[in-house]
Amino acid sequence: MHIITDVNEMQQRCLAAREAGRRIAFVPTMGYLHEGHISLLREGRRRGDLLVLSIFVNPTQFGAGEDLDAYPRDLTRDAEMAESAGTDLIFAPEAQSMYPGGYATYVDVEGITDTLCGASRPGHFRGVTTVVAKLFAIVQPHLAFFGQKDFQQLAVIRRMTLDLNLPVEVVGMPIVREADGLAMSSRNVYLSDDERRQGLALSRAIALARQMARDGVEDGGEILAALRALIDGEKDARIDYLQICHQLTLQEQARIDGDSVLLMAVFVGKTRLIDNSFLL
Ligand code: PAJ
Repeated sequence: MHIITDVNEMQQRCLAAREAGRRIAFVPTMGYLHEGHISLLREGRRRGDLLVLSIFVNPTQFGAGEDLDAYPRDLTRDAEMAESAGTDLIFAPEAQSMYPGGYATYVDVEGITDTLCGASRPGHFRGVTTVVAKLFAIVQPHLAFFGQKDFQQLAVIRRMTLDLNLPVEVVGMPIVREADGLAMSSRNVYLSDDERRQGLALSRAIALARQMARDGVEDGGEILAALRALIDGEKDARIDYLQICHQLTLQEQARIDGDSVLLMAVFVGKTRLIDNSFLL
């Protein structure tokens, strides 16, 4: 396994691999790897010939006052985990080489970025789509793997890939959870023991919503009211958003059906957790 920081070297290596007929599988991340990231790497290993992981805490997707500086980083540990999962190349550029002086180009997906995380974090998805478009241009992958943990991000990247005719197959992968239900996230390290316990309200809310849906409740408002009560029962939890949306349009749905996804962002103390699930 090699760790490459230089943009041109990375692009040349990937171009050579492509020309040699190798299928490039790509997993973009911000590092501080956990089993969620590893599940993407394993699928990439299974489906590709050259497995590329990027580790880049992308400054353009963080808003002012967000956790860019505090975001956890540990390249040594990440490299060990990545190697065990069969990674061939890690691309770990510096911010300066991704966004050198004079940088002026951004990719903006309209519409589905206006709601949910896009409404709470203005400019966030513009940063995500810009960096993913750049990474696709550098790595030139045949396949790229993204987690459903970031459901809206996956939808936005699918939209961008389709709209810009990027020759990349975007593969969505299931959410990996801790044994107690908490969705894995690099940001979980911010939680104190007590906050971590309160954070289980998100997965408990999902379980309750799915149970209500299975029991025949079709009124989205009724389900959301029950979940709000559950989450508000935790003293340090504050709901950022809690919605039931159509899986493709991300428009809110009043009545649930097979396309309904429950999406939530909840602050537990200062840490913002997201989670989601299909209801039926
Ligand atoms: P990051 O948060 O590091 O996540 C990298 C990838 O891992 C994303 O596709 C995310 O959905 C997936 N992932 C995270 N937690 C997961 C879990 N518990 N189960 C399954 N998959 C999980 O998302 C980003 O980085 C960035 O926005 C990025 C796309 C790299 C652009 O900077």
